[in-house]
Amino acid sequence: MRKNIVAGNWKMNNDLAATKTLISELESQVKTRPDVSGAEMMIAPTFTNLMEASKLLKESDIEVIAQNMHFAENGAYTGEISAGMLKSIGVSTVILGHSERREYFNEDDAILKQKVDAALENNMRIVFCFGEKLEDRNSENHFNVVEGQIKNALFHLEAESWKSIVLAYEPVWAIGTGETASPEQAQEMHAFIRNLVASKYGESVSENVSILYGGSVKPANAKEIFSNPDVDGGLIGGAALDAESFMAIVNAF
Ligand code: PGA
Repeated sequence: MRKNIVAGNWKMNNDLAATKTLISELESQVKTRPDVSGAEMMIAPTFTNLMEASKLLKESDIEVIAQNMHFAENGAYTGEISAGMLKSIGVSTVILGHSERREYFNEDDAILKQKVDAALENNMRIVFCFGEKLEDRNSENHFNVVEGQIKNALFHLEAESWKSIVLAYEPVWAIGTGETASPEQAQEMHAFIRNLVASKYGESVSENVSILYGGSVKPANAKEIFSNPDVDGGLIGGAALDAESFMAIVNAF
């Protein structure tokens, strides 16, 4: 059965002190968490705070994950971090393909495919993000765009590798804008994605892959979005920077 997951993408926020504070607030929240919530929790602090975060949360139910990585194992790539380096500090999951990486750092499908392969070679789990821009939706091209993003970076994989893939549909027009896809729009796209995966890999793969929704998820709208049959959780930006909001979203399950 696929898992419900709520992942906090902290982006370029929180220095070391703020990271420690937010982690300790999250831990206090987790202690008071009702047992009913069935969601796995992840947080993605910045690279400089990953090691401290992963030490602090070693024994906890919150997994510390990375926001990005390079595809090479090492070498002359100034400023970059490899999968092996992440593994060496206890980080085994990485977000790849976030729209901000695609938009501001020119990460295209070909680069992402290499990153996916490098992560899998290092036995890492991947939260793979994709989603259409506003102009794609307005021109009713959103299904094509999403299909291309998934096929180009992931459809060369063997079925077995899909055990390490979590998908995150993040319509670019909903990220950090306060605008969310309606529950119907989210469900429609998530069902489309699951069918796409089924058409290539069959139902046992498609039924087991978690598909998260991301884009202005807040405590006020989480329940409605997560109640859709094909929405298995969320990738949370802004609301993940506040422990109470993040846990309220986790507890929406
Ligand atoms: P947001 O960001 O929740 O602030 O819209 C989501 C994301 O970028 O993953």
